[in-house]
Amino acid sequence: MHLVADEEESTPSYMPPWTTPYIIGVGGTSGSGKTSVASKIVASINTPWTVLISLDNFYKPLSAEERARAFRNEYDFDEPQALDLDLAYQCLLALKEGKKMTMPVYSFVHHNRVPDKSITIYGASVVVLEGIYALHDKRITDLMDLKVYVDADLDICLARRLSRDIISRGRNLESCISQWEKFVKPNADKFVKPTMKNADAIFPSMSDNSIATKMLINHIKSKLQRKSQDHIDKLVQLGHETIPL
Ligand code: CTP
Repeated sequence: MHLVADEEESTPSYMPPWTTPYIIGVGGTSGSGKTSVASKIVASINTPWTVLISLDNFYKPLSAEERARAFRNEYDFDEPQALDLDLAYQCLLALKEGKKMTMPVYSFVHHNRVPDKSITIYGASVVVLEGIYALHDKRITDLMDLKVYVDADLDICLARRLSRDIISRGRNLESCISQWEKFVKPNADKFVKPTMKNADAIFPSMSDNSIATKMLINHIKSKLQRKSQDHIDKLVQLGHETIPL
């Protein structure tokens, strides 16, 4: 590890072992199990400076009138425009370039960004970005090294979403079903499912997907090992000494 001077703020900062992070995108319809796949990746790759980012942090802030509509279930959170994908791209680009980035924190209970709260990340070796539109914007997918689409039947997604939204997002059954029929399902068919074609791998979201999980993790581990070895080779070429582990 090297200590380098940060030009912008002229304070010392740590340089991660790789200069560009390995970025993994995890997309799929709402309730398909993206969070669980993304968390499994993070837990299994055993790589320092791994960060998991949810695209949910990038829902746009709403005006008072829009918030009132959201509480009446008349606001569409499932069209791509509901998310600030420009900001998500800027944040991911900053990480790709090894720079610091700051992103908002979102509250599903208040349908808004949490005031005076943000998350700052000072660079990463591995970034996992999960969200319904993780594989939608070409600027974002172009930054990714691996794109995974989590595939589940929409009725299974609805069942998962109902319990999750009622328990963790402060919703009731009637509003969940109405939101699903009005916005979630039509947008899933129109915008989310087509992002499957942008994926490198389609991950089956069913009760026993242990073989698919193992294959996915092994693939990522081998890519990270290669990246790490390339970095070591580059350092050796530059005349740096490496420390045997
Ligand atoms: N959403 C909402 N209220 C908001 C903002 C978003 O109900 N104020 C909903 C949208 O309807 C969208 C969903 O949040 O469909 C996106 O989150 P989702 O993909 O369901 O959650 P994750 O945990 O990221 O994914 P998964 O369930 O696949 O693990």
